[in-house]
Amino acid sequence: MCGIVGYVGSRDAVGVILDGLKRLEYRGYDSAGIAVVSSGGLQRRRSEGKLQNLVRSLAAEPLSGAFGLGHTRWATHGRPSEENAHPHQDCTGRLVVVHNGIIENYLALKARLEGAGHRFVTQTDTEVVAHLVESLYAGSLEEAVRRAVGELEGIYALVLMHESEPQTLVAARVGPPLVVGLAEGEHFLASDVAALLPYTRDFVFLDDGDIVTVTPGAMRLVNAAGEPVVRQAQRILWDPIQAEKGGYRHFMLKEIHEQPQAVRDTLFGRMGLEEGEVHIEELAGAAASLAEAKRVVLIACGTSWHAALVGKFLIEQIAGLPAEVDYGSEFRYRTPIVDASTLAVAISQSGETADTLAAFREAKRLGASGVAICNVQGSMLTREAAGTLLTHAGPEIGVASTKAFTSQLVALALLALHLGRLRGTLSRDACRRHLESLARLPHLMEQALAAPGPIEELAKAAVKASDFLYLGRGIHYPIALEGALKLKEISYIHAEGYPAGEMKHGPIALIDERMGIVALCPRGRVYEKMLSNVQEVKARGGRVIAVATAGDSEIRRILDAADTLLEVPALDELWSPLLFVLPLQLLAYYTAVRAGRDVDQPRNLAKSVTVE
Ligand code: F6R
Repeated sequence: MCGIVGYVGSRDAVGVILDGLKRLEYRGYDSAGIAVVSSGGLQRRRSEGKLQNLVRSLAAEPLSGAFGLGHTRWATHGRPSEENAHPHQDCTGRLVVVHNGIIENYLALKARLEGAGHRFVTQTDTEVVAHLVESLYAGSLEEAVRRAVGELEGIYALVLMHESEPQTLVAARVGPPLVVGLAEGEHFLASDVAALLPYTRDFVFLDDGDIVTVTPGAMRLVNAAGEPVVRQAQRILWDPIQAEKGGYRHFMLKEIHEQPQAVRDTLFGRMGLEEGEVHIEELAGAAASLAEAKRVVLIACGTSWHAALVGKFLIEQIAGLPAEVDYGSEFRYRTPIVDASTLAVAISQSGETADTLAAFREAKRLGASGVAICNVQGSMLTREAAGTLLTHAGPEIGVASTKAFTSQLVALALLALHLGRLRGTLSRDACRRHLESLARLPHLMEQALAAPGPIEELAKAAVKASDFLYLGRGIHYPIALEGALKLKEISYIHAEGYPAGEMKHGPIALIDERMGIVALCPRGRVYEKMLSNVQEVKARGGRVIAVATAGDSEIRRILDAADTLLEVPALDELWSPLLFVLPLQLLAYYTAVRAGRDVDQPRNLAKSVTVE
């Protein structure tokens, strides 16, 4: 949801800002812009479409300056166009602002400012910030911003600069993320740390209500009342190379192949194989709530919500605790039964998803204790949780989540085992056996990815399908949902995930030769039932892509030449979702590539959804 970069220091600001925006483009890519101040004054350049258009325009007519800011947009108010692209300026053209979020009272502010003679030229909510700060400016940008944010309603990460205040950027945050990157003689601002990894590993994460002023040699952090705030810098251990494509055609493909390592890193150091225990130091402070909880509410959105559905199975089966799963965007709009005996678990790759955060806050307000599973250290969610089980997937750049998902699944596995041990529902021996299975996972994932079967061939036919139905049962039903989501978001082919047993209650009517059917048939509790469902599809002329356990001869007997079998290595049913999802990710990927889609930046989407 929009990416922001700011720079003050001795490098060429344009190069740093464009480099940072490139790494943030996954956040929004419908237009981009930059403004820098040089001896010639403040100059601005904006382009509709991807960042590449802005880069081309700058190559044709270069800009340079030692401080500046830039933006890549995901439109909320005002269609994507050069005019509506950020940075936006005031009437004098000497002040500019970039914004991520929504200013909810912009119409009222706009009417007032227009009444006072300000001229608006865009359809955006953001432009109102430029004029409001202009109206309050009396020589100090920090002071004007501080007074302006007092009048803003909504959510915002803002960065501003004024031509008459050399080498100074002022930023404010309520809602969407903003970090300050620290380095000798220079400062950076960005929507996330991945944008700045080539420049620094030391970051200050801004909190809601923070206003920060940076110059090359200083950073001043104040609250809404202008009082100084002290905030510790954090060192981020992500490797900048992880945020590069590393020879892969797309980030998504690279991230699919990084999954064994992401899973290994997430398990690493937490599995007490010898003693049959799980060690999650980050949750030590919440141990009492974990041990005493009577029920668990898992809160998430999108792919993370699918992980939560798997988590429900694991927590109920291993820890014997009732677990419910809620969409972040729905939780607040019903009357959830939550009290002090509830453990709320928020799951989020980014830790910044507005709906997940809002639901998590609501659960805590109602008395729940709250822990998180999150991939971004220092993100808002990690700061609001009583403890965070970090997934160590590294930066995930592709908009379609892959390695964050499988890392969430192993984090949930660890949480379920930990809960089971804390609550005495799981013996050491049983815990040890589960850990032994989990320890085999990274290697089995490598095997599955090394020999995925005829997926590229399948993709040739898949692009011609009008719709896809993904069928699964039990713990693999959420994997069917995830497979369908992956396909639809990057290939734009309509796909639905369905519990296979429900098919005959409606969707079976859809089956024809243009409908692709993916059936997840792991060996285990519902295997026979799944085979019956596959037979039902075949009896109606449907062509099946079956995903099954390697060496399964039974399924071969019911498939015929029109069908395809994809095999994954055998593993305990509880952990096999981590293997079954891999061919589905690859099928979505190769189908989208075949269809000529923009895999890493699918239309209309943004990776981090920081508006509700
Ligand atoms: C889909 C996808 C999204 C995210 C969702 C939640 O591939 O990536 O559905 O899972 O926007 O994001 P996080 O996990 O950052 O809260």
